[in-house]
Amino acid sequence: MTEQTAHPQERAKAAAPLWLFALTVAVLAVTDIVLWYAEGDGISAIQAYTRWTARIAFIIFALIFAASSLLVIWPNRFTGWLNANRRYLGLNFALAHIVHLGALTVYFLVTDQTPDTITLVFGGLAYVFVVLMALTSNDKSVALLRANWRRLHIGGIYYLWGVFTYTFAGNVFDDNVSALLLFVCIAIMGLCIHDRLSNR
Ligand code: HEM
Repeated sequence: MTEQTAHPQERAKAAAPLWLFALTVAVLAVTDIVLWYAEGDGISAIQAYTRWTARIAFIIFALIFAASSLLVIWPNRFTGWLNANRRYLGLNFALAHIVHLGALTVYFLVTDQTPDTITLVFGGLAYVFVVLMALTSNDKSVALLRANWRRLHIGGIYYLWGVFTYTFAGNVFDDNVSALLLFVCIAIMGLCIHDRLSNR
């Protein structure tokens, strides 16, 4: 989704890694099966799946967010690969996040609960960004939208960072995984700021 800074290793266009999409689908499917058996009842399983689909999406998001800073700090094959494949990582993030949308829809349908207005407004806007960013993750859109493409993708990625940070912060005292992932949110922003300041 993001094509911010052009590092030498990322200039060469990578072919779509189909195995990455297969891996994301496999991780989402295995997580569903494991939670179905691990949780006592269907509703707890769906709630846990809602949580974990967002966490899986976040792990991909964190890799995209930190990719260019990681390449500067540790230039190696892995960080080069991350940068060369940011577009495809972005599409995998969108896929996992759409599964989060599916899971939360089922959760609210089976529990008769309704999400609060703040979640609907800010979460809904985040989904508008996710869909627009996924739809414009191609060379044609980059050429057509030019500066607006950059605005959309950079604005979107920071907005999503804000929603992830806010969501993990809300559960920080209830769940150790949420606390750990909040730390990752802060760490990747720290990396990004460090990268910007040292590139001045
Ligand atoms: C209308 C939109 C959304 C609704 C209604 C919604 C609803 C939910 C629900 C019901 C859960 C499970 C909470 C629990 O376990 O008690 C959840 C978890 C989560 N959601 Fe969403 N969500 C929305 C959009 C988003 C977006 C756009 C993001 C991120 C950009 C996001 C990130 C998360 C995260 C990170 C978790 C797991 C929190 C944790 O592990 O502490 N959600 N969401």
